[in-house]
Amino acid sequence: MIVSRRTLLIGAAGGLGAGLVGCAGTAGSPEQTARLLPSAAPLPDRFTRPFQAPPVKPPASTSGGTTRYEITQRTARLEILPGLSTEIMGYDGLLPGPTIRARRGERVVVRHTNALTVPTVTHLHGGHTPSASDGYPIDLVLPQGGIVGPGHVDHGGATADISRGSRDYEYPHDQRAATLWYHDHRMDFTGAQVWRGLAGLHLITDDEEEQLPLPTGDRDLPLMIMDRSFAADGSLSYPSLDPNLARIGGVIGEYAAGVLGDVMLVNGVPWPELEVDAVRYRFRIVNACNARRIRLELDPPPPSGDSFVQIGSDGGLLERPVGHSALVAAPAERFDVVIDFSGYPVGTEVTMINPLGSGSTATVMRFRVARRSTDDSAIPERLSTIEPLRPAPDAPVREWKFLRGPSDGRNHWQINGQDFDPARMDAAPRLGEVEVWRFYSDLHHPVHLHLDPFQVLTRQGRGPGDYDGGWKDTIDLRPWETVEVAVRFTDHVGRYVLHCHNLEHEDMMMMAAFETVH
Ligand code: C2O
Ligand code: CU
Ligand code: CU
Repeated sequence: MIVSRRTLLIGAAGGLGAGLVGCAGTAGSPEQTARLLPSAAPLPDRFTRPFQAPPVKPPASTSGGTTRYEITQRTARLEILPGLSTEIMGYDGLLPGPTIRARRGERVVVRHTNALTVPTVTHLHGGHTPSASDGYPIDLVLPQGGIVGPGHVDHGGATADISRGSRDYEYPHDQRAATLWYHDHRMDFTGAQVWRGLAGLHLITDDEEEQLPLPTGDRDLPLMIMDRSFAADGSLSYPSLDPNLARIGGVIGEYAAGVLGDVMLVNGVPWPELEVDAVRYRFRIVNACNARRIRLELDPPPPSGDSFVQIGSDGGLLERPVGHSALVAAPAERFDVVIDFSGYPVGTEVTMINPLGSGSTATVMRFRVARRSTDDSAIPERLSTIEPLRPAPDAPVREWKFLRGPSDGRNHWQINGQDFDPARMDAAPRLGEVEVWRFYSDLHHPVHLHLDPFQVLTRQGRGPGDYDGGWKDTIDLRPWETVEVAVRFTDHVGRYVLHCHNLEHEDMMMMAAFETVH
């Protein structure tokens, strides 16, 4: 039997109400649907650790037009907080995992070996991936030495494609250059397993992007932002399903609204400092928090010009750059930006702040402008071409209501009044057809679709919001909002999911399946 959170949560004390009232943990902010889990470990001083970027993964082999990678999912002990040792679950034992770099059209096979003690599922977020490699939440990779054999097994009416020890995930990369990320997607346990470290970057480039004069090399850096909390002994705290184990992190039911940490990690380092030349840098910002929305600003802002020039979103380059004084990112959203440090006097310390946070989470990292340097980069007026998706007048319109479940003693969130059931397909979109998907929410629900990106048509009946531009795969749906998007699924038939990317909501059933058809 596959142990599922839904069975364990039935009858959990408190109900959702506790989690929602728990918004007090974020000082009653209307900006978050989540609850703060405070660290018991002392928080380190900020800006004392140098910035680091995750290592780029070398291929295991390249032959016959296929590039192969081998990643081992394993535990590791890292010194994340000074003087304390933290056990993580990491891809190759790293936090974040190693970065995979690929080209458009390059066929990549990643062999994930599960050397952990729990089942995993790996999903490439933003990938245009065949269904069998997309990480359907019940397609488990069981730990290496388990007793259950691999094969297709029945999971409450759904077929689960179970592997033991390892699985090859195949990515044709038939998609534009973009900042993707990969992370765990095990049904009912994604929040816990991503929180413990299972997340990494996956960057796709293409000829179009390479011809642009954007900053490259060590001036093109990822910022994978995660909030986490630590127990007194340095271990990661996370609310437990088991009340007997809940001494440290509380019971998950109390955190049904979502778990917020109080330590801000950038690429696994708490509040790092990055020494920069007084030139342009490209940053690929990924909100990899379980539930936290962030708002990024520079303090001080540059003497002239915008703090951030956005060049890309979830699905790659925008058509034209867009200037912002602040960026608001919901969980799983990506913003590809250029920051121009040339206006700052050498010696300036520029803090990246998060006014949606408070106390320790109100700052993210710091830049120290160290020296002048030459810069041959530029931000072209025109970055790319985006084909507008225009739904036909009789295009299918599908409604997806993201609402809390009824107060029946269970902690659950629902889409269209239903809990996730991997055996139930809630839509059968036809490949190649543009559809209108309308999302509606009671609280903050970052809605994510698998397989293909979408374009925002309207937000609250008006045009797209400031952060909705370009190809998106995750949308920051705020309380009582209606957002309409145009989406067209292509190439791959099979089962996929859409879900809330507040990972606690996702685990508590705020997910739906659809099957693409010819
Ligand atoms: Cu980033 Cu279905 O997830
Ligand atoms: Cu995804
Ligand atoms: Cu949600």
